[in-house]
Amino acid sequence: MASITVRRLDDNLKAQLRLRAARHGRSVEDEVRTILREAANSSTSARMRGEVGEPKADSRASSTRDGEPGNGQFAQAPHPNPLPARAERERKITLIIGGGIAAYKALDLIRRLKERDAHVRCVLTRAAQQFVTPLSASALAHERVYTDLFDPQSEFDAGHIRLARDCDMIVVAPATADLMAKMAHGHADDLATAILLATNRPVLLAPAMNPLMWNNPATRRNLARLKSDGILVIGPNAGEMAEANEAGIGRMAEPIEIADAAMQVLRPAPTGPLAGKRILITAGPTHEPIDPVRYIANRSSGKQGFAIAASAAAAGADVTLISGPVGLSDPPGVRVIRVEVARDMLKQVEDALPADIAIFAAAVADWRVAREGDQKIKKTSSGLPPLQLVENPDILATISKLKQKRPPLVIGFAAETEHLIDNAMSKLLRKGCDWIVANDVSPSGGVMGGDRNTVHLLMKGKSGGETQIESWPVMPKDGVASALVDRIARNISGAETA
Ligand code: C5P
Repeated sequence: MASITVRRLDDNLKAQLRLRAARHGRSVEDEVRTILREAANSSTSARMRGEVGEPKADSRASSTRDGEPGNGQFAQAPHPNPLPARAERERKITLIIGGGIAAYKALDLIRRLKERDAHVRCVLTRAAQQFVTPLSASALAHERVYTDLFDPQSEFDAGHIRLARDCDMIVVAPATADLMAKMAHGHADDLATAILLATNRPVLLAPAMNPLMWNNPATRRNLARLKSDGILVIGPNAGEMAEANEAGIGRMAEPIEIADAAMQVLRPAPTGPLAGKRILITAGPTHEPIDPVRYIANRSSGKQGFAIAASAAAAGADVTLISGPVGLSDPPGVRVIRVEVARDMLKQVEDALPADIAIFAAAVADWRVAREGDQKIKKTSSGLPPLQLVENPDILATISKLKQKRPPLVIGFAAETEHLIDNAMSKLLRKGCDWIVANDVSPSGGVMGGDRNTVHLLMKGKSGGETQIESWPVMPKDGVASALVDRIARNISGAETA
């Protein structure tokens, strides 16, 4: 197969090529390939239309369809050039791999992004190449990898500008302390920093470094500056370091977390009745430890709270779900924070404020043991262990009674086994929330852990008005979730007076 050296083309042709490539956001090499492919396709289609010296097989072949010129037989055949379709479906990500031990995880990140239909172009810093090779990155990305600002091949058409702009976003993983410092100060002395300075696309950093570097005041300053410049950051997480006997905050977020965060950035601006609303939801049980192996819990599965979170996200809300231990996966588009105990749930709820709506669907344990055993409590002949219980904070009541930052609509749940409406009504008043979703959790109903729910919605009347009660028919839990979300949407849009 003949090869073409673009540099040897005459200047006029080169200039035209550059212009065409820039217009299409392609490299000059890609543009040449596209032109050749189009030329090959048009000669194929011309042949199919019988225009290249061949007799027309069928006069209909060159006729027009629906009055469109040239919409003959070829137009009905599948387009042989897959590029436009692919470009429409895929999101383009420029992945900058920094030089840290976590660079090996960036290889997995390439796979995770591709699994999510992203087209990934990798840039490796010089330091990154000490940890992973360009060959492994390009094998996974199915693309050439970029390493050099002064690479005559890619810089022929100002490649760093193309890498900075011919993409939907830039992900930097791992983002080292050094790379963050350079970004914060606007350096552009290598390909990665030049791209980051030249881009007008969203940038997501996944920092990874030693905990002391992360906590160093210089890094804190750089981080604050980057955040105020609009740079997005995921992680780092807490955990063991590559350095022996070191642990703390500094591990790069997991590739799946980074890929999900990137997809979140690329998701189109939410639409729907709850677009622009921040919703906070609690779900699941809490596990209150007795000792390292035992805990107090309940049978809540978290299904109802997770279904509400999914419905609210589908209605365009920005949803934070704070869940106790459950075996459910994160609903799409929802920020999920997992906790074990009631006190952590309260802390996370407080940290997630302000919110427009708060829904407390968690079955929080009412009590915990006063003093958790450091070691497994042993059976002894001297009798039962002296377990003293203390009350957990009531999260719903605490948030409902806040003077500042109280969400305008606070909704609680009342899971009862008897006197459902009466108990729910007194809970509505006692806890100070606006609405209560009351459900009968008698074991015979199979609600706890099951997929269906029968609820009554109690809505406190505005300015001391009468409480309205609606009884909904038995529904799957996701049906209850979407009915509740629908009711919330109507309420906040003012279409409802309750
Ligand atoms: O008092 P009871 O547990 O029946 O109240 C149920 C409601 O209160 C639910 O909305 C539940 O999420 C919330 N709750 C809470 N914190 C607690 C106990 C209950 O947020 N400690």
